[in-house]
Amino acid sequence: MKAAAGLLLAWVALTAAGALGACPEPPAAGDPLADLTPAELEQFTLGREVFERVFTDSSGLGPIFNAESCLECHEDPRPGGNGDENETHATLMHPDATCDLLTALGGPVFQAHATPALTRATGLESEPIPDEANVRAVRTAPDLFGFGLLNAIPERDILRRADPDDRDHDGISGRANRFPDGRVGRFGRKALLPELDGFNAGALVIEMGVTNPDFPVEETIGGKPIPKGVDPTPEPELDAESLARLNDFVRFLAPPPPLKLTHEGERGRLLFGAIGCESCHTPAFVTSVNKVRALDRRVVRPYSDLLLHDMGAERGDICLGLASASEFRTEPLMGLRLASRFLHDGAASTIQEAIELHAGEAAKSRERFRRLAPHEQAALLEFLRSL
Ligand code: HEC
Ligand code: HEC
Repeated sequence: MKAAAGLLLAWVALTAAGALGACPEPPAAGDPLADLTPAELEQFTLGREVFERVFTDSSGLGPIFNAESCLECHEDPRPGGNGDENETHATLMHPDATCDLLTALGGPVFQAHATPALTRATGLESEPIPDEANVRAVRTAPDLFGFGLLNAIPERDILRRADPDDRDHDGISGRANRFPDGRVGRFGRKALLPELDGFNAGALVIEMGVTNPDFPVEETIGGKPIPKGVDPTPEPELDAESLARLNDFVRFLAPPPPLKLTHEGERGRLLFGAIGCESCHTPAFVTSVNKVRALDRRVVRPYSDLLLHDMGAERGDICLGLASASEFRTEPLMGLRLASRFLHDGAASTIQEAIELHAGEAAKSRERFRRLAPHEQAALLEFLRSL
């Protein structure tokens, strides 16, 4: 009797697994991480509403801003994705190579739009870039899929790969940017921000002019205070609960699952290692112990070391923290197939063009790419298009 009941149970379990898919499909771009608890899933869904919320003059937008919602710039192919917007950053590089973010003058991000009330009061239609700024940058909006996992990579594992003085003489140094409080930076093209939550809260104010508990004060307008009556919404314009949900949405976004590799793609993957791309585009990390099961000791495949590399003076723009004009964070290639323009300023419209624009520390591996036979290059590109 007992054995029969056991068999029956096993049969029920097996058919149930079959019906649900014994091997469940991994989450697609824009989906939440697999393994979230029902409560976390609810937080993700509530957070997506905040991410998609369109702010207006009466709900906190501005008085200067770049867009009306996070979604406007992070939308393709789904919320959390990339966008076709460009924005302008500017900083001041001193002759001794120290970097001034021009925060007292409204920097480093200069907003492209102003609310009608601000325009009426000042005549301004965007934030003016001060004469002090001596370096400028164009920035495209990247996707955020899987970034909660990047946030959970232990600092020491990032630092382990740094080689600022190139002691191993491979021509590739790699160094960590540091936030002013000393923490290792990892977010943004110059890796200045150490934490995803801080980036999100900053983006609310900087991109939309929406104050929140972590950034309760509006930015100045080119260093000047906001004229009276122009921004009547009381601070913070977003409450703590909504900010927490927004953070949940971003950190619970799953990385897009790589496509299954063909035989050619698999050859391409090996070539990616063989010609030195992996010296910067680190294939995998393991996250640290985390209270959230879906982020706890997980393998993440960012294809980035999250370190700064000198990519050659020609492609340089602003300084940011310790990052010099020509240093950029190795761009994660996770989700590369979803992008239609590449590099920090969108200068490349194909993956091959992006590789061709690698210089500085990456010049050697670019040369090795050029020396590959056409069918090898094709295999490498096929691998990259699977990410
Ligand atoms: C006007 C367009 C725009 C809006 C609106 C916007 N972002 Fe972004 N976002 C960007 C750009 C551009 C970057 C890249 C910055 C850089 O290159 O350093 C970025 C980068 C990020 C990053 C870091 C990604 C990385 O590669 O490290 C996060 C996280 C992020 N945004 C979250 C948000 C959130 C949350 C909101 C809404 C509160 C938001 N963004 C609104 C344009 C935008
Ligand atoms: C010295 C470090 C380094 C090496 C070696 C390197 N890369 Fe990169 N890679 C970077 C950095 C840094 C960026 C971001 C540059 C920027 O945004 O301007 C980048 C960007 C990219 C991008 C664009 C990603 C995007 O979404 O914009 C692709 C594609 C890429 N690398 C592929 C490769 C391939 C293939 C190789 C080997 C031939 C390679 N890289 C070797 C550091 C490196």
